[in-house]
Amino acid sequence: MCGIVGFAGDQNAAPILLEGLKLLEYRGYDSAGIAVMNEGKIALTKSQGKIANLCEKTQDGTTMPGFIGIGHTRWATHGAPNDTNAHPHLSNDGKFAVVHNGIIENYMALREELTAKGFVFKSETDTEVIVNLLELYYKGNLKAAVMKTAARLEGSYALGVACADFPDRLFAVREASPLIIGVGVGENHFASDVTAIISHTRNVIYLEDGEFAELTADNVTVYDCMGNAIEPQVTRISWDIEAAEKGGYEHFMLKEIMEQPRAIKATIEPRVKDGRIVLDDFDMTEEQFKNINKILITACGSSYYVACAAKYMIEQLCRIPVTTELASELRYCDPIIDERTLLIVLSQSGETADTIAALKECKARGARTLAIVNVVGSTIAKLADNVLYTWAGPEIAVATTKAYTTQMAVMFMFALYAADKLGKLDNAEYDRLVCELLLLPGVVQRAIDLSSDIPELAKKYYKTRSLFFIGRNVDYAICLEGSLKMKEISYIHSEAYAAGELKHGPIALVDDKTLLIAAACYENLFEKTLSNIKEVKARGAEVLGIALEGNRAMSAEADEVLYVPRTEPMFNAIAEIIPMQLLSYYVAKENGCDIDKPKNLAKSVTVE
Ligand code: AGP
Repeated sequence: MCGIVGFAGDQNAAPILLEGLKLLEYRGYDSAGIAVMNEGKIALTKSQGKIANLCEKTQDGTTMPGFIGIGHTRWATHGAPNDTNAHPHLSNDGKFAVVHNGIIENYMALREELTAKGFVFKSETDTEVIVNLLELYYKGNLKAAVMKTAARLEGSYALGVACADFPDRLFAVREASPLIIGVGVGENHFASDVTAIISHTRNVIYLEDGEFAELTADNVTVYDCMGNAIEPQVTRISWDIEAAEKGGYEHFMLKEIMEQPRAIKATIEPRVKDGRIVLDDFDMTEEQFKNINKILITACGSSYYVACAAKYMIEQLCRIPVTTELASELRYCDPIIDERTLLIVLSQSGETADTIAALKECKARGARTLAIVNVVGSTIAKLADNVLYTWAGPEIAVATTKAYTTQMAVMFMFALYAADKLGKLDNAEYDRLVCELLLLPGVVQRAIDLSSDIPELAKKYYKTRSLFFIGRNVDYAICLEGSLKMKEISYIHSEAYAAGELKHGPIALVDDKTLLIAAACYENLFEKTLSNIKEVKARGAEVLGIALEGNRAMSAEADEVLYVPRTEPMFNAIAEIIPMQLLSYYVAKENGCDIDKPKNLAKSVTVE
């Protein structure tokens, strides 16, 4: 996810663009740039890293005079974060500049077509095809060139376009990526969201997919996809800047929990082509898979708990032994690794020191390595032989949610891909599972919709000082993550335990002050977990059960029940975590905790 801004007014644009980019930095911050119209030419400055670097390079915009301009802060999707790949991008003839948020799915074909026509590409980005299409189609009519260019694009895009032949205006185009127009007095703006412009105007137009706008200092014209001028609805924003950055949610964590259906969709859909799973540049033949005698998955924290859940699915489908190891342990345990080991590394940040060290250790011993990372161009992404990105977008809250579930989605795809390569699935079963996979964004949305009772439950439980999460098989793996969420944002001691293990000691702790959260969505072992619930109920404990929709037996035993939508049993985990995320969020809120920045924690643990 990137952030774009544009300004057309009666004062220097550069300082305003930089200020807007700073307010969008939470959307992406690996590189940035601005382009300003000055004396009929486009002046361009770009820089790797945070907006502060760009401010320094342009002396807070004072080195770039001009009243019209566009800007971009990048969350890299195609091409590493560096000056060359940073936006804005210029056309070959230097007449056009473009900023873009989204992904152009057909950019490779367009790049080949334009290259054949003599265009030269300088960056690795998908965006550069857009600015050269504008040059290709421009015959003096800027609006026509914008429309012809947009008609060639497949995928998602919020575009800002500047043209040296029209130094008094900008175009903004929206398709499947958010884009708003800020209507001011003597000035007009466009931006990826309200945050960037709310200090200048509270009057905004939310462009719809297919619509585009033409902005000058004194006028905004909105067009439909056919190029007909339409009367836009102008909305008055009542939010303050901080609320706007969180999209109206009180905390980033809640915003990111709610973004999970979109994030999972963005992670899965581009990797299902004609009903087949394609794992980007990761490809192993049947022979290579058969040569693997161990799949080892390593990570830290929540990423490690994804590994624990994925183990069950990969083993069930592939019948290859899967081991999971904490990276901080793996790096020092003289691991038995060789070229027949496939190491899978999970990391949201791609910068976790223990995980980097474990990856290096295993590479040195000959393992083939696959990284699943949320930050493009991060250290782990660069170190691994192959990388599969989770397209969750920047995750701001320290407690991970959407990165966790998108990692889970990638592991589901890996398991299906590997099972198919190993001939473990017939075509009908493979097709069925791929269809179920594509339904997961909707399943997760339903899990969110089913969680409306949680704020009330949090009021009942927030004074708890210690609790257990119990489950069996993949339910237990989910309990590990649910328990970590509770610990790290509400500061309540909690422990995840295999339900069958309680009787081997921990049940000594159970009394009428004990709260247990019993996850029982893995229905093959439901009765066993129910027995464990009865054991602890007999000792006076309070039990909050988590079960699949329609399960009546749980409500007969547990004091409270949260329901999870039914999906393919192997995929349950991705929905089962939702009520646990929300419960920890609302309990922490009741306790007045600093939810987005919990004490003692960091978003990326780059030290040992
Ligand atoms: C999760 O909520 C925590 N913030 C933490 O456990 C995190 O998962 C862990 O530090 C690993 O981080 P990574 O995924 O960026 O490698």
